[in-house]
Amino acid sequence: MINERPIIAPSILAADFANLQHEVEMVNASAAQWLHIDIMDGVFVPNLSFGIPVTEAIRRHARKPLDVHLMIVHPERYVEAFRKAGADVITVHLEASTHLHRTLQQIKSTGAMAGVAINPHTSVALLEDTLRDIDLVCLMAVNPGFGGQKFIDQTFQKTAALKAMISRTGAATLIEIDGGVNEQNAAALLQAGADVLVAGNVVFSSDNPSGVISRLREKQGN
Ligand code: DX5
Ligand code: ZN
Repeated sequence: MINERPIIAPSILAADFANLQHEVEMVNASAAQWLHIDIMDGVFVPNLSFGIPVTEAIRRHARKPLDVHLMIVHPERYVEAFRKAGADVITVHLEASTHLHRTLQQIKSTGAMAGVAINPHTSVALLEDTLRDIDLVCLMAVNPGFGGQKFIDQTFQKTAALKAMISRTGAATLIEIDGGVNEQNAAALLQAGADVLVAGNVVFSSDNPSGVISRLREKQGN
């Protein structure tokens, strides 16, 4: 898997679903390393997106790792199915996981990278005991459920606190920021310790999506 920082993961939620193949090919040809796939169940979040068949269809055209973000209750029920559909990273929400440690082992047993997402109200401190088992922490910078929302500034402090915790524990966990990422806040997020930037609307609503991706990739961290 390509892990050169910063990893840019365009979120297909903001793409034109009637031209999905074209959109995936744009990402294939761009500087983005991953493709972010948002799965919503209308229960964990107040919105529905798409599921396994659409993920499989994206997989058939994508030449980059699929970063699947499960915004669903009981995510452990669907881990194998999304792995089979082509997921390379499978991220579950802490708030939806009663037995997070077990779910992380389950994800890893499929061969996928194991991610944990936390909502804006959830403290990074809650991840301390499982950090060594987590390949990626997804810090939600908006309340999950919709693309195109305003970035919550508290995310900068959370990123720095999580980065310090990762350094302290010697874990190899990547930090991903999801929601409201744009060309104005990207550099500060990378400086605070982010490794992966998810970008939906800023990419797909642009006249030059691959130009936005390239500019995000050129942002400097520490
Ligand atoms: C929100 C999703 C995000 C979203 C990001 O629930 O998890 O991945 O697609 O979109 P933007 O970048 O438009 O905030
Ligand atoms: Zn997402």
